[in-house]
Amino acid sequence: MRRPIIAGNWKLNKTIVEAVDLANKLKAATLKLDDRTAVVCPPFTALSAVADALRDSDIAVGGQDIFWEDSGAFTGEISGPMLKSAGCTYVIIGHSERRQLFGETNDTVNKKLLAALKNCLFPIVCVGETLEERKTNQTFEVIKSQVNNSLANLTNEQLALTVIAYEPVWAIGTGLTATPAQAEEVHAFIRTLLCKEVAEGMRILYGGSVKPDNVKELMGQKDIDGALVGGASLKAPDFISLINY
Ligand code: PGA
Repeated sequence: MRRPIIAGNWKLNKTIVEAVDLANKLKAATLKLDDRTAVVCPPFTALSAVADALRDSDIAVGGQDIFWEDSGAFTGEISGPMLKSAGCTYVIIGHSERRQLFGETNDTVNKKLLAALKNCLFPIVCVGETLEERKTNQTFEVIKSQVNNSLANLTNEQLALTVIAYEPVWAIGTGLTATPAQAEEVHAFIRTLLCKEVAEGMRILYGGSVKPDNVKELMGQKDIDGALVGGASLKAPDFISLINY
């Protein structure tokens, strides 16, 4: 009943030419998109060109970040109306790299989430504990605080449009994947934090070294509704087999 989402986060990779080349390869592939959604999130500079390349496909395009104001004196930022006009329907918010390297907090994530919803973009809100937090048994406390504070002040209608990505920081780009059981435990916990009306329908994606050889087992877990993929989304054959898991 929850339609799975396989989303590729291209991070700081690919020039416009390279991005369009990857998009064309995905578009040319046979993808099982009747019962799942595929999203690619190129860097801002390539969004418009990738959206053009994917125009007649069922692959959606998303931004990797959004600013909470629509316009104004905010040098370097990109707003919801800009993402929409570039062809985006999704946006990643609060990725751990943004939290760790660029000072994002649950408060800024919440503002960005509200801005995404206001601009009719489906938000993919990232949460996840560090290795230190896992080792010191703080995983659930950290996830609870991130979910509750990042998703504060949302109506049930807004929550229903929101996607959560659980990405243990220690599993991102490290080749260390959470075991399906470790991931499922946190996904099920996240669902308990949501009010009954939205918990059942909320898509919760797993992210952190998802690869063609581990996606099936992860997707077999009851509360895992998709994947947010970094490294393996940069090569067409890998991302195609992830979409077709
Ligand atoms: P990874 O990145 O698949 O390269 O671990 C996941 C992410 O950061 O979203």
